[in-house]
Amino acid sequence: MDKLLIQGGTPLSGEVAISGAKNAALPILCACLLTGEPLQLKNVPHLNDISTMLRLIGQMGVEVTMDGNDGLILDSHGLNNPLAPYDMVKTMRASILVLGPLLARCGEARVSLPGGCAIGARPVDQHIRGLQAMGAEIHVEQGYVHATARRLKGARIVTDMVTVTGTENLMMAAVLADGETIIENAAREPEVVDLANCLIAMGARISGAGSECISIHGVERLHGATHSIMPDRIETGTYLCAAAVSAGSVRLTHTSAAYLDAVLAKLREAGCAVSAEHDVISLKAPQRLKAVSVRTEPYPAFPTDMQAQFMAINCVAEGSALIRETIFENRFMHAVELIRLGADIRIDANAALVTGVPRLDGATVMATDLRASASLVIAGLVAQGETLIERIYHLDRGYERIEEKLSKLGAIVRRVR
Ligand code: EPZ
Repeated sequence: MDKLLIQGGTPLSGEVAISGAKNAALPILCACLLTGEPLQLKNVPHLNDISTMLRLIGQMGVEVTMDGNDGLILDSHGLNNPLAPYDMVKTMRASILVLGPLLARCGEARVSLPGGCAIGARPVDQHIRGLQAMGAEIHVEQGYVHATARRLKGARIVTDMVTVTGTENLMMAAVLADGETIIENAAREPEVVDLANCLIAMGARISGAGSECISIHGVERLHGATHSIMPDRIETGTYLCAAAVSAGSVRLTHTSAAYLDAVLAKLREAGCAVSAEHDVISLKAPQRLKAVSVRTEPYPAFPTDMQAQFMAINCVAEGSALIRETIFENRFMHAVELIRLGADIRIDANAALVTGVPRLDGATVMATDLRASASLVIAGLVAQGETLIERIYHLDRGYERIEEKLSKLGAIVRRVR
């Protein structure tokens, strides 16, 4: 398995381009299932999760054509196998996002239950309940969700909690349903809005995306469209943290500050000078950061996908910070790895108290999930000496060419086969 070897101590500087958003591209790839006409996508990130999703819809009968460097043309007129098998779903939970579109387009779907993952149980009960409210017959047997529906009917759905892919699945199911669907307590994440914009370009009638109440008026069919994936706000935040912790100064291009208010506010509170204009964000870090406490909540509050990165920068900041994780029940696994590098972190249930230490010392550490891996990279950039990160296949799921982009910013990092 690949490893990442980082020599710490170099302030990051220079300019790097941000890729398309993984968590916008994944549901939008599934949207192609809703029409028999070609869907042309641009700014698609080159990530393992994207390749997995393309394999998954490809085995259903979708024709995938590369269109230049970061473009794709998806044609599902030959869709003939509404099945998402366990061996594919177990490697990527987001596979559940095919359930709504398959039901809407084919009237049936067999999708393996995703099972748990490192950061929590992550059930899909809200996805199932919402589809049942729209008239789907759903039963779960032998680890598969079997769903059928002659034609889904519009319904008013109130989810028990804010769920990003739950909102996305139900929105995609509703665009071809008979009548109006209202999703209350909807996720407001920008990736939900990007999906809605793509569906609207395909002829869907959606209003309220980005608010907690989304209304979808079903139509008979959708048509092809062209859509460019929004920039990845979590990749952006991750590189900003890498620059912040290393007393660096960077410019990130092809991105947007519009979706990062909570994160940029915390970086400024930590002592960074952050400015943004058009599709560029610039950050200049102080010699040493001040500790900043964070509490993860649904968008527009501080994102859970940036929690691990902020735990890392707090490890060497001045003072103590309290980190509360309210979204997932087990998203502190990076803490024990950071402690191996010399961090002072005390965990109590969903709260972590991080007390800044003067320095971290390089060691061998193990990645456990995508954003935990990012926090180890950030810590390795500032630790004295060499840090070797194992199991970096987690990183490759969500960060395009990470060692290339970090090297471009002056980091001393290489992939060890
Ligand atoms: C999406 O996951 C993202 N993934 C996650 O990013 C992100 O951390 C998460 O939203 C929260 O922002 C994609 O968009 C592909 P949820 P999702 O449904 O949709 C519970 C990354 O690093 N819940 O919003 O799976 C659930 O257990 C990944 O890129 C139910 O109980 O998250 C969790 O505690 C990690 N039943 C909470 O709700 C359900 O039916 C929020 O989960 C659905 C969710």
